[in-house]
Amino acid sequence: MKTRSKSASPSPKGLASTHRKAWLVFLCSTTVVTGFAQASDDAKFSAYRDALADGNPGEFWVDDGEDLFFKKAGPKNASLEKCDFGLGPGVLEGAYAQMPRYFSDTDRVESLEGRLMTCMKTLQGLDDKQIQEQYLNIHYLNAAEEDNRVSPLAQLATFVASKSSEMPFQIALDHPKEQHAYELGKKTFWHRMGAMDLSCAHCHAVPGRVLRGVELPVMTDPERAGKVMGAFPAYVNKDGNVRTQWWRNERCLLAMRLPWLKTGSEIDAALILYQVKKASESDEKIAVPGIKPRA
Ligand code: HEC
Repeated sequence: MKTRSKSASPSPKGLASTHRKAWLVFLCSTTVVTGFAQASDDAKFSAYRDALADGNPGEFWVDDGEDLFFKKAGPKNASLEKCDFGLGPGVLEGAYAQMPRYFSDTDRVESLEGRLMTCMKTLQGLDDKQIQEQYLNIHYLNAAEEDNRVSPLAQLATFVASKSSEMPFQIALDHPKEQHAYELGKKTFWHRMGAMDLSCAHCHAVPGRVLRGVELPVMTDPERAGKVMGAFPAYVNKDGNVRTQWWRNERCLLAMRLPWLKTGSEIDAALILYQVKKASESDEKIAVPGIKPRA
């Protein structure tokens, strides 16, 4: 297991300065601040949501992710703009709606984050160690709850995913490796594991389950899965950070006292695929960046 350190101070790193200014103006707005002072937690969240309705801070991640995507980097001094997310090199529109999916060049089923890392290798020439140092270390620190350090991998993922907004997930499972990944995800979801002998299904397949006053989403219900999965990457108010599908699964695995979920791993893609397949059985549309009071 890795050690997780927490950061106490919010880091505006990665936010463009114009955005930062707008954001500070927003934070200092008296209506918002006084509104918070007396409100109960739930009223606070809904006031916050309303206040943010026209300005989801997750948009910063989209903009910063776009800058990163088109920035030349790595030993090959190339950008990621020719990355093929399944619909052809550089085609972003609708690509996330069909991911995780099988890629013949790697002969694997890859999640969005996994595919971004593949393109960092093939297009930019980064090796595993460089990806670990430049992208995953901060990404993993960022997985500490309420840690608001910004992960460049999450920024990239938010940008690419935003290009599928307004579209429903379309998960066909045409390739045998996709069917295998789906079955692996299903098995992982339903299998009781770890010292606590819990499965994901224990908390997310039974209607009406409540934990710490929060109703747990039934991820086997297509409408609910559609709303939940279609909102990731989401700006999470409680954390002041954007969280991806990987992050959420990782948080729950940690709560189950299970080992680290490696970003881009087979299990990572499988768990996402199982849940977005459910989502694809509804008409719910992707809305990225999502915004959630907590996640
Ligand atoms: C002990 C109960 C428990 C188990 C086991 C559990 N979760 Fe969770 N899960 C939670 C809680 C609590 C939340 C947060 C709900 C909230 O605050 O909105 C959550 C949230 C989620 C969400 C996001 C919901 C949203 O509205 O954004 C997903 C997706 C999810 N879990 C997937 C999983 C997966 C996959 C597993 C198995 C690897 C799993 N969970 C295991 C309790 C559990």
